[in-house]
Amino acid sequence: MKERLPGYLLSLLQGVGETADRQRVSVYVVGGIVRDLLLDAPNPEGRSGTRFEVDLIVESDGIRFAKALAQRDKARVAIHERFGTATVAFADGHTFDVATARTESYDSPAVLPTVRPSSLREDLCRRDFTINALAIRLNASRFGEVVDCHDGRRDLQDKTIRVLHGLSFIDDPTRVFRAIRYEQRLGFQLDRNTAVLMTEAVKMGLVHRLSPSRLSAELLHVLSEREPVNILARLADFNLLQFIHPRLKWSPGLARLLNAAEKAVEWYARLSLGRLTSPWVVYGMALLDHLPQPAVQETLARLTFPRRQAQTLLWVAQEGARLLRTLDRTDKPSDTFRTLRNLPDETLIFLMAKTRSERAKQNISDQFTTYRRVRPVLRGNDLKAMGLEPGPLFNRILDWLLDARLDGTVETEADERRMVRRMVRSPG
Ligand code: CTP
Repeated sequence: MKERLPGYLLSLLQGVGETADRQRVSVYVVGGIVRDLLLDAPNPEGRSGTRFEVDLIVESDGIRFAKALAQRDKARVAIHERFGTATVAFADGHTFDVATARTESYDSPAVLPTVRPSSLREDLCRRDFTINALAIRLNASRFGEVVDCHDGRRDLQDKTIRVLHGLSFIDDPTRVFRAIRYEQRLGFQLDRNTAVLMTEAVKMGLVHRLSPSRLSAELLHVLSEREPVNILARLADFNLLQFIHPRLKWSPGLARLLNAAEKAVEWYARLSLGRLTSPWVVYGMALLDHLPQPAVQETLARLTFPRRQAQTLLWVAQEGARLLRTLDRTDKPSDTFRTLRNLPDETLIFLMAKTRSERAKQNISDQFTTYRRVRPVLRGNDLKAMGLEPGPLFNRILDWLLDARLDGTVETEADERRMVRRMVRSPG
């Protein structure tokens, strides 16, 4: 841990161990961070890329422990009584999720389980895959000790995704999606028996029983991965695209579009424009692109995607092709600018991936790299100084100035002033 974790995180975890000793409870770090730590990855990172997601398990009362931890480190704590969990938010922005060790029993397939407190070992037994059923003890005297009751370390070494028991997908069919996500993200293989159980779970219709919100959450996780295209292709192998919409089928056209979307997202990142707020939306647009309109509407009405992004997805499905036709015909920068200026970056990136028109592609690229940065020299205050009153004409003049700058019909401040004077004389 000392080699793999940044110093601040290591000392936070050591602090957790000291608090655990003082409270006389056993505390472990579990979940993805343990898997990534034990993998031969030099610097394990949370999926967000910058934040580590730390899940702690306490044998006995997790909430009481979270309160003690927060008090010691002057952190904020949010209690979720219903789930017996708490979130501790440290001053540096890191958050630790704290839970009481628990077991789950499933009253019927595909619904959320009944939960009761238990030991760490039992808690690990309820987990999805052996590589996720590992824990590291944090108590000072045994800091760093790995708890591995299911040969998770062996599977990490063999690069294998394996369920803990034969009923795993019946207990929780979302694990079918999770297995594929880990397989592709980590470059692992599905254990043969695990793959058979997945195929059976799909055939038995267990995925159909998932609520739209759980299905949507899984799909969002898939689309939010750094490289989602291979994951989607594997979902298709397991016949899982039908749960997004029965008419959604893998095809060379869809594969081409998704790959182009991945490249366009990378292009955006390389441009140093910063990260897209929701890259998943670009992949969502690509996925829905091959569906007929009514099917897109049905899908978005059923899935519980965040409302604003769902509206964007629908808008692009309805208007995207028309917009691309316009962009293919446009060669005036000011026209491109006005066509695209109010659209989210995700939409532009998707259109760039979708179009085969070089001109449309160039127009979108210019919008990002050039047009958005163009400003006239003259500002509102300059117009006032030239004797103009703020009002509708005033705004029109500012718009005209911007268009002229974009189209290169003015180049200097003197050009702009001449243009303003001409427009005031004949605003027509
Ligand atoms: N888990 C599980 N079954 C699920 C969901 C989660 O057993 N259906 C367990 C796994 O042990 C997992 C942990 O809960 O490691 C935390 O889940 P999550 O945060 O979704 O995944 P991570 O393993 O942290 O992986 P990542 O965030 O890297 O995707």
